Amino acid sequence: MKYALIRIADAADWQVYHAIRRSSLWEERGLGGYDDARPQERFHHHHALLLKLDEVGIGTTRLDDLRDGTGIIRLVAITASLRRQGHGRVLDMMVENYAREIGLRVLFVSAASDAEGFYMATGWTRVTTQAPELLGYADECVQMTKSIAR
Ligand SMILES: CC(C)(COP(=O)(O)OP(=O)(O)OC[C@H]1O[C@@H](n2cnc3c(N)ncnc32)[C@H](O)[C@@H]1OP(=O)(O)O)[C@@H](O)C(=O)NCCC(=O)NCCS
Repeated sequence: MKYALIRIADAADWQVYHAIRRSSLWEERGLGGYDDARPQERFHHHHALLLKLDEVGIGTTRLDDLRDGTGIIRLVAITASLRRQGHGRVLDMMVENYAREIGLRVLFVSAASDAEGFYMATGWTRVTTQAPELLGYADECVQMTKSIAR
């Protein structure tokens, strides 16, 4: 099994990225209206990331570099049929390595409350001080943070 985390660059990978997000974070939650054309996806400091396993896209997130040494990860998802097999933990570790390489020291996430256990298991803790304004605050979500080991 060979994992790779890539910053999305080609149309085929964009399609997989949006398909995983649409089904995992909208349709499974009974939501419609997923928009795959939001300009935020293409900002230079927003890194749309795809986890591939043996060349097949199985997980996604977007890492927003706040350009002050901190970043926000958004919409973490693993394809439904492949969950609870350790792929989310690999995604988290590879995103942390990626964040370190682009110079980040601290990450934040606004975690869906039913995913808090996943974040706790992968080294995140609840925010107890000030979170970046861009993290936002949503009902049913928990603000969490992780320091990136050097
Ligand atoms: C959250 C998600 C990314 C986790 O991915 P995954 O591949 O299932 O996670 P893993 O199998 O690597 O699990 C890693 C650890 O987290 C735990 N875990 C995973 N999902 C969990 C959950 N929902 N609640 C509690 N613990 C959870 C696992 O038990 C495991 O712990 P262990 O190694 O100590 O046994 C995946 O369930 C998902 O895509 N969910 C739908 C989208 C979503 O809710 N995303 C979060 C939005 S903020």
